[in-house]
Amino acid sequence: MDNYILEMKDIHKSFSGVKALSGINLTLKKQEILGLCGENGAGKSTLMKILSGIYPFGSYEGSIFINGKEMKFNNIKDAENSGVAIIHQELNLIPEMNVMENIFLGNFLNKFGILNKDEMYIKTKKAISVIAPNIDPKSKIKDLGTGEQQMVEIAKAISKNANILIFDEPTSSLTEKEISKLIEIIFSLKEKGLSAIYISHKLDEIEAITDRVEIIRDGVSVGEGKTIDMHSDKIISLMVGRSIENLIPRREREIGDIIFEAKNYTLYDKVNSNIKKVDNASFYLKEREILGFSGLVGSGRTELLSAIYGAYTGDYIGESYLNGEKLNIKKTEDAVKLKIGFVPEERKTQGVILNDSVQNNIILSTIKNYSVKGSLDKNWRKKPLWNIKKNFR
Ligand SMILES: Nc1ncnc2c1ncn2[C@@H]1O[C@H](COP(=O)(O)OP(=O)(O)O)[C@@H](O)[C@H]1O
Ligand SMILES: [Mg+2]
Repeated sequence: MDNYILEMKDIHKSFSGVKALSGINLTLKKQEILGLCGENGAGKSTLMKILSGIYPFGSYEGSIFINGKEMKFNNIKDAENSGVAIIHQELNLIPEMNVMENIFLGNFLNKFGILNKDEMYIKTKKAISVIAPNIDPKSKIKDLGTGEQQMVEIAKAISKNANILIFDEPTSSLTEKEISKLIEIIFSLKEKGLSAIYISHKLDEIEAITDRVEIIRDGVSVGEGKTIDMHSDKIISLMVGRSIENLIPRREREIGDIIFEAKNYTLYDKVNSNIKKVDNASFYLKEREILGFSGLVGSGRTELLSAIYGAYTGDYIGESYLNGEKLNIKKTEDAVKLKIGFVPEERKTQGVILNDSVQNNIILSTIKNYSVKGSLDKNWRKKPLWNIKKNFR
């Protein structure tokens, strides 16, 4: 019989009557790295939140066994005590606190009732030395890069003596270098006897890291197998429920003339203005054309486009033209007036105001169109939000 370190059986979970998971089964062996694949909304994070005690026993149906013993976690602590720790898709560290305070959050070491900072420092140093020896336990989280913050999250999970680590899309904001470091760390943890569940959209990572893959779609398991037996085409078609050829049907578009041109953009680093982030870049865009920008993380794609949009805060030079006319975009409002839109990378901090309504977020950048004498027109809902016909003939 197979010796599973973890078994999740027939897991069901609904959110206010809407089914998110409808009978998922999942197994994990010691030292195995299982890839969990599925489209956005398939239920991956929900399943992992059940496993890590975020959704407590009673809020879902089905059962969880660890080393053959049934578990009923009431909270994250229960799961951690049974050796399960999760590294979230979105980092959960407190920016104003330092590394050691974050690692021991809720677990501050006490000796005779006082905070023992020396012991905390030593233990943090030990936990972090395996992963990122150059991070100082006393650095504030906000002063670390995203990759380093990710390493702190992992150190935090390991410091809880986890033997099942859950990585929920850990690499979405890491550079290539940080990703290879992370992969190295996962392999060394595996060697030390840990098992892991690894969620990622990036199939090259799934292929490189995992031993086995489980694919879920709309809250049900749709396929499973050893990674070496699964081609990425097979994983994708299981994920989306269609064959790869029909994934994104190509539609013919008639491409028009050049509508936009960017010429000789050079951008300087925001902190060190001697460093060029972008060196003399030019490109054009034709009517009805979709232009792709490809490059490694850090290669300057976002910076170039934000400069054109008037959102780059460092120094730069360059000229842009719309329908042959030279533009003078100094701030984002100027771009909005020209009907140029920008969907930023960091939606939570650059795209939307999280604690405001959907309504206000949608009209925020064009609020003037809906205002009379400085306040919102009470009939604003009747006005078209985005008149595509008018903008693009
Ligand atoms: N807190 C929540 N409240 C309501 N619906 C949720 C909540 N969390 C997830 N869902 C829904 O459950 C489904 C699965 O979501 P999720 O587990 O986040 O998917 P994944 O991680 O695979 O992208 C989605 O339809 C999502 O909208
Ligand atoms: Mg998710």
